Amino acid sequence: MKILVLCSGGDAPGMNRFLYTLSKKFAGEIYYAKAGFKGLVNGDIFAVDMEKLEEAKDESGTIILSSRYPEFKEEKFFKKGVKNAKKFDFVVILGGNGSQNGARELFESGVKTIFVPATIDNDVEDSFYSIGFDTAVSQCVYVVENTMPSINSFLQTCLFEIMGNKSDMITKAVANIVHPDYCILNEKDLDHLKIGKCIKKNLKEDKGTMILVKEKIKNIFEIKKALAEKGFAVKSQIVGRLQRGGKPTKKELQMADKFATMASKLIKSNCGGKKVLVDINQNVFVTDF
Ligand code: F6P
Repeated sequence: MKILVLCSGGDAPGMNRFLYTLSKKFAGEIYYAKAGFKGLVNGDIFAVDMEKLEEAKDESGTIILSSRYPEFKEEKFFKKGVKNAKKFDFVVILGGNGSQNGARELFESGVKTIFVPATIDNDVEDSFYSIGFDTAVSQCVYVVENTMPSINSFLQTCLFEIMGNKSDMITKAVANIVHPDYCILNEKDLDHLKIGKCIKKNLKEDKGTMILVKEKIKNIFEIKKALAEKGFAVKSQIVGRLQRGGKPTKKELQMADKFATMASKLIKSNCGGKKVLVDINQNVFVTDF
């Protein structure tokens, strides 16, 4: 059997572990498309290197590389992708919603695809978990908790910008753990009067102020400037890529193993055109595209 794996979109901690676990179950049968759909289209396809995977299995990133490749929607590139994909019995695709569309379209063109949610944003339709989320949350918590003692010592305010694209899942999960003084999840929350009141209240109690800001609402430096103009001492911390680069948590590795085990069951029972998702109780289940 020949099985192709590719990672698409933002890399997510746990991708390496998924590939390792799947490769262990199909020794000598796993190949990868370098840098996702781009590699599939260009025929950059190689056998996995178990030695490298052994080293990377508990590390973030993806040793088979990833990319954002919107060109895949164009017919000429898509057709090349289908042609290369058909050389394999199965194509396993790790990524977010955009990658899921690519997987579905490949399936509709006759390729046996399996889609596995892997994005720190945790915004894959119908899935309560995607590979990378737990690590991203834990990295943010680490940054916030290790920044605030200094902020508090100077009675300052710190704005923490948290990645997540259009999804507020990471910011909300972090908020549940660190209990910020204020959280900006949407434009409505960007109320300078309210934020000012919150900072003043903390100052009276000799406390600094922790503000979480979901990315892509407003440039964090503009928010900072507006608050500084009101006389507040404001610092900013973009958590950013630390969220993706952090060492995968124990839960992450367990979830990646669960996804890989389910993907291998599908392959062994010759079932393509499937999505491996997670329910509210964190159990994996399978649906059709
Ligand atoms: O989708 C994952 C993600 O990390 C988002 O949270 C973020 O908005 C985006 O990717 C950043 O993309 P890039 O790494 O291409 O700048």
